[in-house]
Amino acid sequence: MDFRKPLIAGNWKMFKTPAEAVETAKQIVALASATTDVDVMIAPPFTALTPVAEVVKNSHVSLGAQNLFWENEGAYTGEISPSMLKASGCDYVIIGHSERRQHFGETDENINKKIRAAIKNDLIPVVCVGETESERESEETFSVLDKQVRTGLEGFGPNDLETLVMAYEPVWAIGTGKTATTNQAQEVHQFLRALIGKSFGNVLAKSLIILYGGSVKPNNVKELMGMPDVDGALVGGASLDPETFGKIFLFQN
Ligand code: PGA
Repeated sequence: MDFRKPLIAGNWKMFKTPAEAVETAKQIVALASATTDVDVMIAPPFTALTPVAEVVKNSHVSLGAQNLFWENEGAYTGEISPSMLKASGCDYVIIGHSERRQHFGETDENINKKIRAAIKNDLIPVVCVGETESERESEETFSVLDKQVRTGLEGFGPNDLETLVMAYEPVWAIGTGKTATTNQAQEVHQFLRALIGKSFGNVLAKSLIILYGGSVKPNNVKELMGMPDVDGALVGGASLDPETFGKIFLFQN
């Protein structure tokens, strides 16, 4: 297996004012200075990106956004463009989170356009895929993931996807306290890596970072990270408190 540097990403969702975000980011930067073995990324709400960018500048904590629109400018009231994110100091952008699919009607076709726009603007796309509880129960997990990946990445070549990060987030595990077992996570991560290998070649498959997301906490991160195809975590609730998030990216429990 090729070396893949672990990435621990914090998705703050719709939490924290700019002042609160700055305070949390300062503490995360301080904690992250203890390690260079792991990449750390935080994704605050749009309104906190610019002040948080100042805090993470010259640290090895990276900044990400939680969404983007695919045009760079225009009459799209309420939307934020890739070039705006880049100018605000973002290196990453989360795309296709299940909460956006569920509450805001995002489709795999929209997600495809967003991935293209992110790559074009030199933003690293963190593309989320995952099945619902009923899809898992009816044994549709792999067909759902297959469609999400194939449609989301349609029309791309391996060179376009060199920076791609995938996040497997089983919808039933997000914010519920239920984590996929390490074997469930490994099984899906292995499937995703093989699917990328089939579609885009083994070089990309081997270097692809695949995060697990869904109730990641200090007490389960180590075990998840012990699986061969789990390269990091996308952390929601537990990333809001800097000490807890620090324990996750320092792998302390
Ligand atoms: P959670 O969220 O860690 O609160 O389950 C994960 C996510 O939605 O990215």
